Amino acid sequence: MDKRNGISRRDFMRDTAGVAGITLAARHVLLEADPLPGAPRPTPPSDTLRFGIIGVGMRGVDLFRGALTLPGVECAAACDLYSGRRELAKEILRNSAVPVTPHYQELLDHKEIDAIIAAVPDHWHMRMVVEAANAGKDVYVEKPMSHTVEQGFEMVAAQDKNSRIVQVGSQRRSSLGYIKARELVSQGAIGDVTLVEATLGRNDPCGAWQYTVPPDLSPETMDWETWQAPAANHVPFDKIRWTRWRCFQDYGEGMPGDLFVHELTGIHYVMGVEAPPQRAYSMGGLFRWKDGRDVPDELTTLYEYPGFRALVRVTLNTELPEVTRFCGTRGFIEAYGDAETVNVVPQDGLDHSPCTPAWPAQMKADYAEQWLAEHRLKAGEGKVIPETTYHNPPGFDDTRAHLWNFFQSVRSRQPSVEDAHFGNHTAIACHMANYSYFQKSVAIWDETRKKIRG
Ligand SMILES: NC(=O)c1ccc[n+]([C@@H]2O[C@H](COP(=O)([O-])OP(=O)(O)OC[C@H]3O[C@@H](n4cnc5c(N)ncnc54)[C@H](O)[C@@H]3O)[C@@H](O)[C@H]2O)c1
Repeated sequence: MDKRNGISRRDFMRDTAGVAGITLAARHVLLEADPLPGAPRPTPPSDTLRFGIIGVGMRGVDLFRGALTLPGVECAAACDLYSGRRELAKEILRNSAVPVTPHYQELLDHKEIDAIIAAVPDHWHMRMVVEAANAGKDVYVEKPMSHTVEQGFEMVAAQDKNSRIVQVGSQRRSSLGYIKARELVSQGAIGDVTLVEATLGRNDPCGAWQYTVPPDLSPETMDWETWQAPAANHVPFDKIRWTRWRCFQDYGEGMPGDLFVHELTGIHYVMGVEAPPQRAYSMGGLFRWKDGRDVPDELTTLYEYPGFRALVRVTLNTELPEVTRFCGTRGFIEAYGDAETVNVVPQDGLDHSPCTPAWPAQMKADYAEQWLAEHRLKAGEGKVIPETTYHNPPGFDDTRAHLWNFFQSVRSRQPSVEDAHFGNHTAIACHMANYSYFQKSVAIWDETRKKIRG
């Protein structure tokens, strides 16, 4: 019994059957991938694209293996500053004759290489993109695109000036679930979206970037001076900094650059954002992983975008489901993980019973009768929308799809799905989160000066 108006829910459902938006049993829908090849197919040598990969670390390995499964794509050279990773590259290449070198310049000078995959730490991204684009190569560069705001604009200029394909490696941009979410939001399936909230939590040392130092890591096996060259501060060889670079502002951007960027890519894509946020305010702290790092282990940032607000909340102190929730006036859409599943929960945004708080009984009953008469729909009226869950097809891998999109752009010369302009906007949103946290101030994006100010 609904105590507010003396009408049972069953009566109400019977009387208002057909009122717009009563939710039916959930449906499940399997998403369909664009024709993404399942396995390498024979391609004439003239159509084959050749890539060189720089950085064969945690991410580089995924990209390397993923790219090798694509038809018409071949590796022409691999590069890493550390001998252990060069050995790993040879393992991936099954000891073929493909050269593996510590000198990335050799890849940029290699006439046969069409495209560079750069999976190096963030403090190297700008140099790799600018030098590769100036050398006439297309570039897939890992996320976040830039290490500083200024670098991002240099990368955009390098892309545009050289007419190169630059694709940033936030694979969510090629995720089927996010493509579906964008379609639904733009069709108005959940009305006007005024809030987006994204949450992610981890609770283990590896998740908090405490990667194990390789036992043979030394200045003899790893070229430390080259590795740290673009960093703002230079220090003597430090195996912790090499292995856990995400923990240090000299090389990474902490949680915004490592994790927010994925959430922000999904948010910018689904919401059609084509500029940095207008304002950001962060709060967080270093509560647990006090291992010498100079970044927080918990951070929440509230962003202001025209027409909606977004909240991104990440902790390295509690395991939490990863979800991005788009909240609208007609329901919500939640994307779990990399959008392996996307739930659409429609709401009608209407009163489901008379709204008469604290009315005396007779007045309430009279009004309820009138209200029900007015809200009773004729048979067939009203739109009944079922709750729907979209699932990725079995075996779908958004990293592979993102790489495929990149090579398709290299081939067709059509703009990349995540070019330097898009990557710059999400990276700036990451820098704004850090600016606010470290300056203890609201971060405002100054579009005229292309700078963040407090
Ligand atoms: N898209 C994703 O889901 C995802 C996941 C993890 C990491 N990443 C990104 O990938 C990039 C690499 O991260 P990682 O975890 O693989 O780091 P990593 O430290 O494991 O590997 C980076 C490798 O690059 C090599 N390297 C650095 N500078 C080099 C240079 N000038 N020339 C040749 N080799 C060089 C290092 O020796 C190292 O082996 C980062 O930008 C990170 O943010 C993206």
